[in-house]
Amino acid sequence: MTKKIEAGVFLPTVRHGWVHSANAPYSPGSYKHALEVARLAEFLGFDFVLSPQNWRGAQGPTRFWGDTVESIAATGGLLQATDRIKVWCTTHTNVYPPAAIAKIVASLSEIGEGRVGMNIVTGGHQSSFYPLGLWDDTLSHDDRYDVADEWIKVVKKFWTEERVNHEGRFFKMDDGILSPRPSKMPTLVNAGASTRGLRFAVANCDVAFLMSGSESGFENSAKQAKSIAQELNKPDFKVYGLMTLIPGETDAEAQALMDHLEAGVDLEGLADLARGYEKNVKGFKEMSSSSLAPLGGAQYRSVMPGAFIGSYGTLARKIATQVQNADLDGILLVVPDYISHLNQIGRRTLPLLAEYGIECSVGANSKAG
Ligand SMILES: Cc1cc2nc3c(=O)[nH]c(=O)nc-3n(C[C@H](O)[C@H](O)[C@H](O)COP(=O)(O)O)c2cc1C
Repeated sequence: MTKKIEAGVFLPTVRHGWVHSANAPYSPGSYKHALEVARLAEFLGFDFVLSPQNWRGAQGPTRFWGDTVESIAATGGLLQATDRIKVWCTTHTNVYPPAAIAKIVASLSEIGEGRVGMNIVTGGHQSSFYPLGLWDDTLSHDDRYDVADEWIKVVKKFWTEERVNHEGRFFKMDDGILSPRPSKMPTLVNAGASTRGLRFAVANCDVAFLMSGSESGFENSAKQAKSIAQELNKPDFKVYGLMTLIPGETDAEAQALMDHLEAGVDLEGLADLARGYEKNVKGFKEMSSSSLAPLGGAQYRSVMPGAFIGSYGTLARKIATQVQNADLDGILLVVPDYISHLNQIGRRTLPLLAEYGIECSVGANSKAG
């Protein structure tokens, strides 16, 4: 039986994307570059693009994430510049009040004629938010998900109710009005990797992005998410795997690229990132290990743990194995070079998924195919 998946691209709206290395390919964290990548993704047949949200960047020699485009602003531009592809922004619940985000995303829905989505993040990185006056030391990791639970309830009220009245633990509205409301509910996604985070995702969103600690790592979290979905009676809930692909013409060439990236790893920047989590006064132990993964244990630190390294054909096999073993409904891709690698992955790797019984719109019916 054929399994159909959605495929998306994690846009490099942040400097160096997800390669924390002095040897990272060109990736300036500019809108212009993100626009080029989003247009390429649409041309290749991808279903969606997602941009991250970051407020400070890592303080190390490579300044990864040090230059960024604000995700919501970028989403407005990208929706205007594309016709078909879905464009998902990232919002921190500690930065934007829910009534404001409901209005902003409703407007994005109008600009993109229903193609907008929102990735909800609770903001647990102290050193990103304290300098901006947006940090609350009284909240623990799990408390921040309690805030997010109520935050998204309020957002949904604005999207569905004519008059919004709400009095909760964190937010209060009195006769709020949002008009026009979105004609179609924006897709809601979340990437919480902890047990609390996954529960938030299933209870409130349509999709959970899963991270993998190793090449075989999606299975457990996918099972956990699907069992919570069953418990909460959400049979349509979907799980997508975040995959970093390190490609080459041959397996050896791909490995050489990986070694090159690793040779320039920005350990100072990674340590700075880790310190930002450790500064949680209420502790950071409940945080999923994935947030702290670059700190230890991982074989490679310049990229996220569990990266797939190999020729374009090898990568197809590795992706297919993961999709089948973990029963993934979609994939979200990270590559070092978002122009040349993405182009090759779209033309040479993803079309091969059909040989493994996986249907994916990239390369199948696209003009690029
Ligand atoms: C695909 C993906 C996208 C994410 N995007 C962001 C982001 O833009 N900004 C951010 O601060 N955190 C982001 N995160 C972090 C997650 O929202 C989450 O906090 C992290 O995986 C740790 O899980 P936990 O909150 O359940 O401990 C992302 C994670 C993943 C896997």
